[in-house]
Amino acid sequence: MSRPLSEQRAEFVVDDAVAYFNTAGLSPMLRTVREAAERALDRRSMPWTITAQEWFADVEELRASVARLMGVAADDVALVPSSSYGLATVARNLSTKPGDRVLVLADEFPSNHYTWQRFTRRTGAELVVVARDPGQRWVDAILGVIDERVAIASLPNVHWTNGALIDLERVARALHDAGAVFIVDASQSLGALPLDVAALLPDAVVAVGYKWLLGPLGLGYLYLDPKFHDGEPLEENWIARVGAEDFSRLIDYQEAYQPGARRFDVGERSNFQLLPAASAAIRRLLDWTVAAVAATLRARTDEIAARVRQAGVPVAADDARGPHILGLELPAPSILRVTRALRDARVVTSLRGSSLRISPHLHNDARDVDRLLEVLRAAL
Ligand SMILES: Cc1ncc(COP(=O)(O)O)c(C=O)c1O
Repeated sequence: MSRPLSEQRAEFVVDDAVAYFNTAGLSPMLRTVREAAERALDRRSMPWTITAQEWFADVEELRASVARLMGVAADDVALVPSSSYGLATVARNLSTKPGDRVLVLADEFPSNHYTWQRFTRRTGAELVVVARDPGQRWVDAILGVIDERVAIASLPNVHWTNGALIDLERVARALHDAGAVFIVDASQSLGALPLDVAALLPDAVVAVGYKWLLGPLGLGYLYLDPKFHDGEPLEENWIARVGAEDFSRLIDYQEAYQPGARRFDVGERSNFQLLPAASAAIRRLLDWTVAAVAATLRARTDEIAARVRQAGVPVAADDARGPHILGLELPAPSILRVTRALRDARVVTSLRGSSLRISPHLHNDARDVDRLLEVLRAAL
């Protein structure tokens, strides 16, 4: 376990009038990311300075740093605009036979649910929505339904509504034994919770960039096991084909694609406005290390959890939740009162289902936590 990082608030754009605990919704912004975005816009406003080679260079730099963060090869990463695009790409390249099942979690993020709903409606496979009993851990609920009928499972490693942890190591073993395709939606964890791709051996991992990766909207990432690299992309974009570097010969149409997972890159991936901002964010995470970010957020959420428990609100056991998201199951009569009081005090959290989701990052300091607790205690 890494040691928590020291105070990092100065690195972020913050407003002291606001206590912001909604990284799971939309990340706070690093100053370096904002500066990179401003420089990027300056560069984009002078197209005559942009060389043909630059249509590729930023993309490959970002691909390489995301790959480092995931602990995979750069060739295995595609740039996608959203998790739904990444999941649709995976779904496009899978088939099932009658009787096959596709697993998703209850109350899953809609992009993950709808993708497999559409897939199962199209293919005739059965969509199995795994629910857990009160007090049950997700891993036990999931293991309870894995058998040889399961062909695909598309799962997160923490539940997006409340940070409940899903022990993917045990799930992965069972899925591999069943011969199922294993997809991870790491949108709510990549950057804040180490993901061991080499140990889990997922077929695909998708993650958005604007939450725990501290980057802009519109840039997410898809890891694809090399066995899928010959697959069919959602679209046929010029830059995904071999030889695209030579702009003068683009109408010499090519059958072959760029190597690795690059064929799955979204069209117009050379987004001069966004790429440098995303890269700056990933560079900072790599410098901090994800393990150290996780340890820092763990200390923060443990402290909040302990103080919330003292105030009489039950919180999931610390080892049953991720380090970075805390979900409070507030008693129904107080939910409205609490959310209104938080809003009035400019303490930004989010309500997802019945869970009040608190998702800090390294910009939060002790005063933010005091303010959150003060409002909670008064409104409960
Ligand atoms: C688990 C999870 N996946 C994906 C997303 C975003 O999905 P998309 O990129 O399809 O908009 C979110 C956003 O909250 C999320 O919580």
